[in-house]
Amino acid sequence: MLEIQDLSVSYGAVNALNSVTITAQPGAITAILGANGAGKTTLLRSISGLVKPRSGSIRFRGEELIGRTVETIARRGVAHVPEGRGIIEELTVEDNLRLATLWCLGRHERQGAIEAIFELFPRLSGFSRRHASTLSGGERQMLVIGRAFISRPKLLLLDEPSLGLAPLVTAQLMELLRNHTDGTDLTVVLVEQNARSALSVSVDAVVLNLGEVVVSDTAAAVAADSGLRHHYLGF
Ligand SMILES: Nc1ncnc2c1ncn2[C@@H]1O[C@H](COP(=O)(O)OP(=O)(O)OP(=O)(O)O)[C@@H](O)[C@H]1O
Ligand SMILES: [Mg+2]
Repeated sequence: MLEIQDLSVSYGAVNALNSVTITAQPGAITAILGANGAGKTTLLRSISGLVKPRSGSIRFRGEELIGRTVETIARRGVAHVPEGRGIIEELTVEDNLRLATLWCLGRHERQGAIEAIFELFPRLSGFSRRHASTLSGGERQMLVIGRAFISRPKLLLLDEPSLGLAPLVTAQLMELLRNHTDGTDLTVVLVEQNARSALSVSVDAVVLNLGEVVVSDTAAAVAADSGLRHHYLGF
């Protein structure tokens, strides 16, 4: 379980997160929702060690993450898929995946792990030798998420995975995420502007506004609250 307590983060004079307390359970997706500038990306960057919080605690599977290096946190099973698309355009699809195996898997495990990702995203397997630069937006997003899965993470942090995707592709991606989370020990923290589709696959949801938690409840309760939807979620 991920337990974040009283987390505060500042960038100089800007308070990006103010005493944020959130928990996320294994085998479930927890949606983090909120307007631009609410602090969602800062939250994920704090968990993966890219940002140094001012105060608070981030415990994962009983271990404090604050103060550890990005590499140590990654080795604890935390995979972070940042905003935007960090694939290497000049490499083929398969080589992008292979690169991701180098730091986390032994030589003999690598090919099997790549094949498992192609099973997860059959569409990508047809493109395995194409340069990543030739993929469509949705196909790139599959590659980015496939790359995150390759290290067999225990905690997957996704920052707006639906950005730029068609509604149908977004729906497929959300279903796929849910299917690969339900009944496993994977904890998923899903940051989304697309609140409606995130809530449809999440178990729990947190709404952030100006760096503070407005509500933290089940996804069903958040989706059913028309006032919250109207004020913070835009649907
Ligand atoms: N490196 C930085 N230096 C200064 N201020 C920053 C920095 N990164 C973020 N901020 C500020 O911190 C606040 C929270 O930003 P953050 O990126 O976490 O928001 P967000 O919820 O992810 O927004 P969006 O939905 O637009 O991606 C914003 O006011 C932003 O301008
Ligand atoms: Mg963001």
